[in-house]
Amino acid sequence: MAEEAARKHKVMGICAGMHNGNGEIALKAALARLQEKGAEVELVNLFDYNILPCTGCEGCTMQMGAIAQDPTKEYKGCVLKEKDDVDRLVAEMHTCNGVLIAVPSYDLQPSSLYTRFAQRFLAYELSFLLSIGVVKENPHTVAGLIAVGGSKHDWQTLTLESLQATMFTMSLTVVDRFMIQRSARPGSVLTYPEQMERVVKMADNVWQAMETPVEERTWLGDKDDGVCPNCHSSLVYPGDPHWDGVEFPWECAVCGAGGDLVTDENGKPRLKIAANGLIRDRNDDKARAEHLNEIIKTRIEFMQKRDSIQDEYKRYCEMEFPTV
Ligand SMILES: Cc1cc2nc3c(=O)[nH]c(=O)nc-3n(C[C@H](O)[C@H](O)[C@H](O)COP(=O)(O)O)c2cc1C
Repeated sequence: MAEEAARKHKVMGICAGMHNGNGEIALKAALARLQEKGAEVELVNLFDYNILPCTGCEGCTMQMGAIAQDPTKEYKGCVLKEKDDVDRLVAEMHTCNGVLIAVPSYDLQPSSLYTRFAQRFLAYELSFLLSIGVVKENPHTVAGLIAVGGSKHDWQTLTLESLQATMFTMSLTVVDRFMIQRSARPGSVLTYPEQMERVVKMADNVWQAMETPVEERTWLGDKDDGVCPNCHSSLVYPGDPHWDGVEFPWECAVCGAGGDLVTDENGKPRLKIAANGLIRDRNDDKARAEHLNEIIKTRIEFMQKRDSIQDEYKRYCEMEFPTV
């Protein structure tokens, strides 16, 4: 039975914190639990790999567009593919059906080591890799997210939400999230047994999600977590008109759900999602396709105006200032 499960479930722990730090300890506790249940597990600390920052060239999406027009063209992937370790990390991740990610809060948000890694995933858009056969089978990977900080929520306000914002491009479905608090020095988290227990509960939740048929999977984290009932983020903002005029009074900064900000029966603020409030839900393929439309239209509009700015563009390119 355990052997059968081991074949079925493979979980990667991804740590952006220090070796022997709090994030690594939390991940080890969670992975040990998953191993006990029969999963194959592995632990990657991003400090051990060469991870170059995305160059911003968008060569990947240009190639994807070209292949959509002409499927005989070959996808060469990211321009950095041969230059660092990201390609092999992503390839391995695409063989896992569970991922646990632990990231330290630096200046209220995920550390740059993590965002550097996450922002390389544009070149590895899963539905595209599946369509061209680079990835053979959709792993339908579920994720548990752990933020780690020395403070409480007030000094970690953007970490989980920014982590969640990287999930769409990484094609990971978040089933649980947790913020480790008041753990400022390596090992501090062990002085909070309740926080360690919560991390182990996350392992159970990830296991449960992997055991559940893809279409029946749901949120397994804390029921009242966050303000947005769609993705459980705590970040909502007063909405502005989108590129095509769509507008909501309030929007979730993470998933894009729209509606009104209300106070629920327990006096807690909640985003009450409008009847059409999920048309921009970034979890939804259709909504993301609409965003692709926006990108294409913005590009076409620019191309139409490009000649009119050529001289000015050249003038800026040639402008030089002293540097360090
Ligand atoms: C550059 C830097 C910035 C930090 N900023 C925050 C912060 O804004 N909020 C917070 O709660 N902790 C902050 N911390 C503390 C770390 O999040 C904390 O030490 C955490 O345990 C590190 O995780 P690790 O042990 O897995 O490496 C900061 C630490 C560093 C080095």
